[in-house]
Amino acid sequence: KNIVILISGSGSNMAAIIQAAQQQDWAKTLNARVAAVVSNKADAKGLEFARQHGIATEVLDHKAFASREAFDAALSEVIDQYQPVLVVLAGFMRILTPGFVGHYAGRLVNIHPSLLPAFTGLHTHQRAIDAGCRFAGATVHEVTAELDVGPILAQAVVPVLPGDTAQSLAARVLVQEHAMYPQAVADWLSKQAG
Ligand code: GRF
Repeated sequence: KNIVILISGSGSNMAAIIQAAQQQDWAKTLNARVAAVVSNKADAKGLEFARQHGIATEVLDHKAFASREAFDAALSEVIDQYQPVLVVLAGFMRILTPGFVGHYAGRLVNIHPSLLPAFTGLHTHQRAIDAGCRFAGATVHEVTAELDVGPILAQAVVPVLPGDTAQSLAARVLVQEHAMYPQAVADWLSKQAG
């Protein structure tokens, strides 16, 4: 069972998944492997980590395409070379077209740095602080056509502490993301037959 991970930046969630896959020997336990990492940015830090761990990498620059539809069509083509059972968005900072989402219906997951359904979109940590939230967190969810909406698969909660900045809160949440996302992917895979 092939997994394809999409990133745009540092790829720390991607790294956590790759590490879990190798340390927990997903090839044996889940008959699964991270087959490829795809980035829309050539300088995404995560690409180097993937290469060092023997995983195929692909770069597809969205700026080279005239429209979102054209980019997504090309992206699907790249992804489908690996025939994935699961496509994992891990800090992939492009909004995906309904056509793309439909093509991967039921096999596309994302991690969002808030306790959904609160704070969809960007700047989630600052917005949680500004709202006076006592708790913040992250959510793994299935991707549907609407942004940051879709069945919730897992959530992790952290306290918002006095004096928190968006940065300090983000760092606290990210630690939980790295524990939660690999587990949520493993749970998803273990529920798939075969
Ligand atoms: C994470 O906070 C994730 O929840 C959000 O973007 C960030 C990506 O970080 N979607 P990384 O690239 O996995 O380090």
